[in-house]
Amino acid sequence: MTPKSAPKKIILGITGGIAAYKSLSLIRLFKKSGHEVKVVITKNGLQFVTPLTLETLSQNAIHSDCFTRNEPFSVEHISYAEWADVVVIAPASANIIGKFANGIADDALSTLLLAVKKPIFLAPAMNVNMYENEAVQRNLAQLEKQGCHIIEPTEGDLACGISAKGRMEEPEKIFEIITQFFAEKKKWLGKRAVVTAGPTYEPIDPVRFIGNHSSGLMGFALAEKLAAQGAEVTLITGPTALHTTNKKIQRIDVVTAKEMLDQTLAYSKNADIIIMAAAVADYTPKTVASEKIKKKNNDWELPLQKTTDILLELGKRKEKKQCLAGFALETENETENAKQKLQQKNADFIVLNSLKNKGAGFKCNTNQVTVFAKNGAVFEGKCKDKTEVAAEILEFVFKEFFE
Ligand code: CTP
Repeated sequence: MTPKSAPKKIILGITGGIAAYKSLSLIRLFKKSGHEVKVVITKNGLQFVTPLTLETLSQNAIHSDCFTRNEPFSVEHISYAEWADVVVIAPASANIIGKFANGIADDALSTLLLAVKKPIFLAPAMNVNMYENEAVQRNLAQLEKQGCHIIEPTEGDLACGISAKGRMEEPEKIFEIITQFFAEKKKWLGKRAVVTAGPTYEPIDPVRFIGNHSSGLMGFALAEKLAAQGAEVTLITGPTALHTTNKKIQRIDVVTAKEMLDQTLAYSKNADIIIMAAAVADYTPKTVASEKIKKKNNDWELPLQKTTDILLELGKRKEKKQCLAGFALETENETENAKQKLQQKNADFIVLNSLKNKGAGFKCNTNQVTVFAKNGAVFEGKCKDKTEVAAEILEFVFKEFFE
């Protein structure tokens, strides 16, 4: 369900593309939820939707030309920029993307964009070849670097008659993304977080490794939630097929326990919170064969050596104001083992995953956790989606450590 957010002042930028007709639904969705909408539309955008429709739906005059005077004296691109809480460009054509990425201001919308200091969302819509064009991708990457939020187009039927990536995201989804953005409390704003996720792979020879079933879902969910709530996040992850969606997450890919150790120590120095959600291998082969090990006639014993316990290391180096959280994956004596890990590793929190709980642990989208805090507080969670579990863990940690 889309969360509610307080009424916001939204500028909806519309550019020339057939998806402009979908912007009408977007205006309705915003208006129905109590938000104020002002439309700024390009000349080409006006080829697809009429001023009368836009003005009727938004209940505001549209702005499309820098040189027409609609209101008592004001420089409109400046007053609009100040008025807005957020700017949403939907659809965003290759043209507006290119102009904004390169600082060109030659009409009402492009001029306004340069004057805005509020969050800007762009929902590109165009033919797949245009979308994949190197220049367009470079411009999108530049806009992300500038802090814009890009709402990626989806795959589906395009106006040119083929089915491919380039369709503007559906109005309902754009509405949900914007509403979610405002509904999130930015309680982690100003905090630096390091989160580890996924398994580690310990190589045996060029084709084999020792790994585990960790999917990385829990660590990724924690990183996303922290970033959505304002934290600066570094996510150090072992091999996983997952992608981050919040562009503000700095992702560091590692493979082995040793690489995870090195990167985690390097990035943890100034972190306010470190969460070790990764399933780090406890043992690694003593030597890595440079050639594939051939099958033997009898059994094979592989000498292993212990890896460094990263959480333990972090616990030794921990500064007073630094919050350190680890996970404990247990199959027996769960509470006792988790509490022991909390103490031994000098952590502030241990999140217990019991594989005995149905719907908890590896490979599934749900989890059920109990969180033990160093101060004695305990949070007993219910079996929920990992995104919700991440939110609950972080709320508990914030309350017990930072408030
Ligand atoms: N951990 C770590 N470095 C390791 C092994 C584990 O940082 N080499 C961290 C994990 O990321 C987790 C916590 O320690 O946050 C507990 O991991 P877990 O596998 O439950 O326990 P271990 O300490 O490895 O002990 P055991 O396997 O005996 O239960």
